[in-house]
Amino acid sequence: MHKFPKLIEEVSQNNQFDLDNFLNSGIPWMKLNIPVPEFDQTVFDRAVEQSTNWREQWKFTSKQEKIDIDHQVKEWNGQVLFGPSDWDNWMDLTLGQNKDNDEDRLCMMHRNSIDFSWRLNESHPIRTFVEDIFPNQKDINIVNFYVLPPGGYLFPHVDQCEAHSGLNKIYVALNWSEGNEFGFYKWGNAPIIERTAYLINNYRYVHWVLNRSDQPRVVLDIGANLHSIGNLIEESFKSQ
Ligand SMILES: [Fe+2]
Repeated sequence: MHKFPKLIEEVSQNNQFDLDNFLNSGIPWMKLNIPVPEFDQTVFDRAVEQSTNWREQWKFTSKQEKIDIDHQVKEWNGQVLFGPSDWDNWMDLTLGQNKDNDEDRLCMMHRNSIDFSWRLNESHPIRTFVEDIFPNQKDINIVNFYVLPPGGYLFPHVDQCEAHSGLNKIYVALNWSEGNEFGFYKWGNAPIIERTAYLINNYRYVHWVLNRSDQPRVVLDIGANLHSIGNLIEESFKSQ
């Protein structure tokens, strides 16, 4: 993102930062000041082994209808690392609500009424990384892990949320070789840098991903109570 003009810089010094106003202002993405460690392949392999492959179980794009080939995605799949403990039960609970709200929002809506848990062992480095950002587990709604092989893509779409259309997900690029694209319609490709965390607005803008590199692209995305990291978001915004 370009440096904010001097006028805005002065205005921001004389006004209080309001988190909700900021998140809903229409910014498509923003880099977060979160140091991202380097994880080796064994860490990724263990994450996949321990995760819940939710897209195999819940055909989001087909709205519960059985389909053989989903042309909206190619080789794209989400692995839940943290989420509702009983996935089948949660599917039943949210049946009928998933046309208007994506999985992040549904987890937020049901966060206090059902049991949520980690799939990862306590010492798993990705779990430790997320817990350092959110020491209170109640602030975490869902953590997903995505491995997109070369040639894989996710077709342009907007994620559903009835409640708001602002910055929402924390998106962490773990492996991001040259040739990967995270496009936002009318904004262009987000300038994603490997081992960097961002907030993204997947609720307002059409977006897509495409791996044109020859390496698997690995990302982590976190749905969480952003108010619990309000200071970090403010500090990240001001240091752009
Ligand atoms: Fe999306």
